[in-house]
Amino acid sequence: MLNFEYKNQTEILFGKGQASQITSRLPKDAKVLLAYGGGSIKKNGVYNDVMASLEGMTVVEFSGIEPNPSFETLIQALPLIKAHNIDFILAVGGGSVIDGAKFIAAAALFEGDPWDILAKGAPFDKALPLGAVLTLPATGSESNGNSVVTKRATQQKLAFGNPVVQPKFAVLDPVYTFTLPEKQISNGVVDAFVHVIEQYLTYPVNAPIQDGFAETIMRTLIDQGPKALSQPDDYDTRANVMWSATMALNGLIGQGVPQDWATHMIGHELTALYGLDHAQTLAIVLPSLMQIQAAQKHQKILQLGRQVFGLTADSDEQLVTQTIAATRQFFEKMGIKTRISEYDLPQQSVDEIMQKLQENGRDSLGEHGDISLDVSKKILEHAY
Ligand code: NZQ
Ligand code: ZN
Repeated sequence: MLNFEYKNQTEILFGKGQASQITSRLPKDAKVLLAYGGGSIKKNGVYNDVMASLEGMTVVEFSGIEPNPSFETLIQALPLIKAHNIDFILAVGGGSVIDGAKFIAAAALFEGDPWDILAKGAPFDKALPLGAVLTLPATGSESNGNSVVTKRATQQKLAFGNPVVQPKFAVLDPVYTFTLPEKQISNGVVDAFVHVIEQYLTYPVNAPIQDGFAETIMRTLIDQGPKALSQPDDYDTRANVMWSATMALNGLIGQGVPQDWATHMIGHELTALYGLDHAQTLAIVLPSLMQIQAAQKHQKILQLGRQVFGLTADSDEQLVTQTIAATRQFFEKMGIKTRISEYDLPQQSVDEIMQKLQENGRDSLGEHGDISLDVSKKILEHAY
């Protein structure tokens, strides 16, 4: 096992009605920026619950944070923060809203051009404190310090991570997910599954705790994901999906083990260029990446096949093939297509994605840093 230092500062408020606790977790006399997206929270009652909890407090609203939040939109919050002396941000929504709120929290106290946080990895050690009310289980953003922001002008989708933007608390009420369109449930389950894979499907380092937790999360998603689609108002299923997605990327299973993240890095370029949903890009890239990197990931692919998909085969070679097929089938069962060509993109899109990977310096991805641009090209050609 590798060395690690681990602390998760996010207090989880899980279950029905937990939004009523928000006020008790805010600083006294807080001036709150309520950040949200395109308005789903107004249709499903989440907005009312949150506002009821904030009654009597100063609340300034900032809405319109779009899926794959844009730098251009987010910086519009900065003058509001100044004008109203905002000292706490409450993000209500999915990963995009929470990621957007994290960027706003950092940008508000950043000296210099806030885009440098993403483009240059500019360091910072302060941000406005924030909390989250999660409405879409997927990204784990509610209890990690990561954020992904897109600059529309240059079609760049870039990430940053810093513990100072990790939410102080997160409300996880599974009831809030009942109104999710089917597509967003599919996206969330696949995203969470791939988060586990990025921290698991590398090479063994004798870490049975991390492996066992990771396998349990994946088995839960494989079992509960399809049920969340077929029985949309089953509370327990939604609760299990929600907790799986949080556990998948709250830092726990990734401690002391190698991590990959190549699928995410390549996937971000597909979203930046063509607007594909984040999870769609992962479903495209991962099965092909497993195929092309099968030798490097051999032991862990076998372990995934046996422990997660319950597969047996006459030879290791067969088991690898079956495990990759099972992964692809799971994404398809969740209703997500796994080939670039199925999204009506022409063959030349492979070259366009390659161009972006090159521009963004993604020439040594993966747990060994051996996914060069040539290897990425093979993965994309295989995925077409
Ligand atoms: O904008 P509103 O009106 O809220 O509608 C949203 C949005 O249109 C809707 N929605 C959310 N909750 C709902 C609902 N509709 C009905 N009922 C509800 N309860 O769903 C749509 C998609 O929301 P979005 O937040 O974009 O989805 P998701 O949570 O999948 O977030 C995706 C973003 O997170 C980033 C992705 O790259 C992408 O930008 N990621 C963030 C990570 C992190 N911070 O750790 C890690 C991930 O790998 C990922 O990269
Ligand atoms: Zn993801």
